[in-house]
Amino acid sequence: MSPVLSVSGVTKTYRSGQIALHEIDLAVEKGEIFALLGPNGAGKTTLISIICGLVSMSSGRVLVDGHDIVQEYRAARAMIGLVPQEIALDIFATVEDTVRYSRGLFGRHAAPGHIDRLLRDLSLWEKRRARVIELSGGMKRRVMIAKALSHEPDILFLDEPTAGVDVNLRRDMWEVVRRLRDRGVTIILTTHYIEEAEEMADRVGVIDRGRLILVEETAALMRKLGKRRLSIMMQKRIEAIPLALAGWPLRLEADGERLVYDFDANAPDTGIPRLLRDLGAAGIDYKDLETSRTSLEDIFVGLVEGRT
Ligand SMILES: Nc1ncnc2c1ncn2[C@@H]1O[C@H](COP(=O)(O)OP(=O)(O)O)[C@@H](O)[C@H]1O
Ligand SMILES: [Mg+2]
Repeated sequence: MSPVLSVSGVTKTYRSGQIALHEIDLAVEKGEIFALLGPNGAGKTTLISIICGLVSMSSGRVLVDGHDIVQEYRAARAMIGLVPQEIALDIFATVEDTVRYSRGLFGRHAAPGHIDRLLRDLSLWEKRRARVIELSGGMKRRVMIAKALSHEPDILFLDEPTAGVDVNLRRDMWEVVRRLRDRGVTIILTTHYIEEAEEMADRVGVIDRGRLILVEETAALMRKLGKRRLSIMMQKRIEAIPLALAGWPLRLEADGERLVYDFDANAPDTGIPRLLRDLGAAGIDYKDLETSRTSLEDIFVGLVEGRT
């Protein structure tokens, strides 16, 4: 199968001299949900903006269903819907007009049935005659999504779709995304939440400081990222880790009030029961236990170190 999106050797140096992307190569298949995962400043928005023709690349090539986004800009762009990170709308237009007008910009014939369905799917129907200025932030975001889908794109880009979004909108959004996927639409989203990538994406690309450092099926990546952290809150603060526990990879934090143990959640034996028994035997009382996934920063450090 030939990819619906093909990015080869794309670099970007901003006029400021900032190198935002180093030689990005990526192919996305039709109908995939692909998540671009990376911390702030990694280059996610830059890459999406280049593919969507909003930012010029310094070198490289992007094909959208075989159309070169520079030489065949209109053909390529017509296949793409973009929900940008920042809300940008004409605040005096009505919801309905905003969505309809956006479709017109792509030169598509009017399709009232399609627009009505979009408004209903995104719970905008009741507000369709309202002006954008009257809407809450969440509703404005829904309008941005409806607008991006107005011309029935084959590829939908969502840049940080759930940053600062409430639970209802998040759920509706994923519902819409799944329905689109079922219809064969390719979805590319950016996020800095691992959970989001895990929940939604078929494949994940990790981007760090302008480099795509890995592209993998979500399930395989999650296995790699199966590291968890157990935090043990002490009853009384301790000065040092007792000798009896020297065999454990423990760290003392929070001024001696917390012991931290990193473990692999996928391992047959996490070591936790033994550790807790050893703590008891060493006479250490704890008042609370907490497990959490290690942070994205830690994971990046791990990946970046493993790269050399
Ligand atoms: N218009 C711009 N001019 C100069 N530097 C920029 C511009 N936009 C982004 N950058 C820089 O490029 C890098 C990548 O930014 P961005 O693509 O927005 O990352 P992300 O979306 O992953 O947070 C950052 O260092 C950012 O400061
Ligand atoms: Mg961004």
